[in-house]
Amino acid sequence: MFHNNQSDITTEQITDKLNRPLRDLRVSVTDRCNFRCVYCMPKSVFNRDYKFLAKKELLSFEEIVRVVKTAASFGVSKIRLTGGEPLVRNDLEQLIEWICGVDGITDVSLTTNATLLTRQRAESLKQAGLQRLNVSLDAIDDKTFKAVNDVGVGVQSVLDGIENASSAGFESIKVNMVVKKGLNDHSILPMAEFFHGTGQILRFIEFMDVGNSNAWDLSHVVTSREIADLIHARMPIEPVEANYKGEVAKRWHYKDGGGEIGIITSVSEPFCGDCSRARLSATGSIYTCLFASSGHDLRAILRSGDDEALMQSMRKLWQAREDRYSETRTQVHVIKPKVEMSFIGG
Ligand code: GTP
Ligand code: 5AD
Ligand code: SF4
Ligand code: SF4
Repeated sequence: MFHNNQSDITTEQITDKLNRPLRDLRVSVTDRCNFRCVYCMPKSVFNRDYKFLAKKELLSFEEIVRVVKTAASFGVSKIRLTGGEPLVRNDLEQLIEWICGVDGITDVSLTTNATLLTRQRAESLKQAGLQRLNVSLDAIDDKTFKAVNDVGVGVQSVLDGIENASSAGFESIKVNMVVKKGLNDHSILPMAEFFHGTGQILRFIEFMDVGNSNAWDLSHVVTSREIADLIHARMPIEPVEANYKGEVAKRWHYKDGGGEIGIITSVSEPFCGDCSRARLSATGSIYTCLFASSGHDLRAILRSGDDEALMQSMRKLWQAREDRYSETRTQVHVIKPKVEMSFIGG
C-alpha cells in the first residue's frame, strides 16, 4: 500500500506478469458510430444486419463509475472515454462529472470524430470537467476524407468541432490521423502543413491490424520512419522527450517553432513494455490488450452489487496479464479472432 500524493486516497499498486502497473483505463461507452471508416467499421460488415448492442446490454453510468472507483483504488489516474463515437451516448456529461469526482482520477479525456461537437456540447463537456480532447481526422481534403469515413461527411464539420472545442477552452487538442497506404498517405504533408503553427498536435497513427474486418496487410503500413522523413524534408523536425513513461506517441517538434507532432508506432516500434492500459467495453468486459480475443466479463459481478468481488476480479485479471501483442505479431502463427476496435475504442 502507498499514499498517492496527488489525492488523499490510499491505493494498492498491482502489477501484471511483466511487472507493468495499471495506470490508465479506456472506457468505451457505446459500440455505435455515425461514421463507417473503411479501416474500422466497413459497411460490408457494419450494415443494417449488424446487431449493435441493445440499451440494456450497456453498462449504466453508475456501473461504469464503480469500475472507475475500483480501478482508481489500484492506482489508475487516467480515464479516456471512447466508443465507437462516445458523443452519440446521451448525457455523457453526467458520466464525466461523476468520473471527475472519483478520488485519484486526475486526467479525464475523450477521443471523438468531433462531428457532434457543437459549441454548446463543447461547453457542457468542459463544464462537466472534461480536460482533454483527441479528435480523429484522416485527411484535409473532402474527397479523401469522404473516401475514409464513407458516409459523405466533409472536413469542415470536423474543423468546426475542433474550433468549437477550442473556443470552449480546450487547449492543445490532439488530432489523430490513421495513415493507410493507398487510402490517405498522400494527405500526410497537407495535414502537417495545415496543422503547423495552430497549437493543435497532429499525430500520425500507423495502420494497425485491429479487429477482423479491416483486411490489414503489412504493405498498407507507412512506417513512422517514412512519415518522419517525409515531413522533415519539407519542414524540419527534431525528436523530443516523452511527457511520461509509456506515452503512446513519439513526440517531435518543428525546428521553426511551428509546434509539435506525434507518431504512434504500434507496428514498427511497439511499446508494449510500458503498456499500463486496460480497456472497459460498453458491455462491461475488461480487455487487457487492444488485440485481445476476449475480455473478462465484469457485468455479472457489477450487477450482483458486490464491490469486494469486483476488486478481487480486477486484481486477479491484471495480475494474470501477459499481453504484448504488438511485440509478437510477426511470430503469431495461430490466427485468433480479435475484438473489433469499435467495440473497445482503440
Ligand atoms: P493521450 O493520453 O492523449 O496520450 O492519448 P492516447 O494517444 O493514448 O489516445 P488516443 O485515443 O488518441 O489513441 C491514439 C491511437 O493510439 C489510437 O489509434 C489507439 O488505438 C492507439 N493506442 C492507444 N493505446 C494503445 C495501446 O495500448 N496499444 C496500441 N497498439 N495502440 C494504442
Ligand atoms: N489502426 C490504427 N488506428 C485506428 N483507429 C481506428 N482503427 C484503427 C486502425 N486499424 C484510430 C481512430 C481513432 C483512435 C481511437 O483509433 O482513428 O483516432
Ligand atoms: Fe467511428 Fe472512429 Fe471507427 Fe471512424 S475510426 S468508424 S470515427 S469509431
Ligand atoms: Fe498494450 Fe496490447 Fe497495445 Fe501492446 S499491443 S501496447 S500490450 S494494448
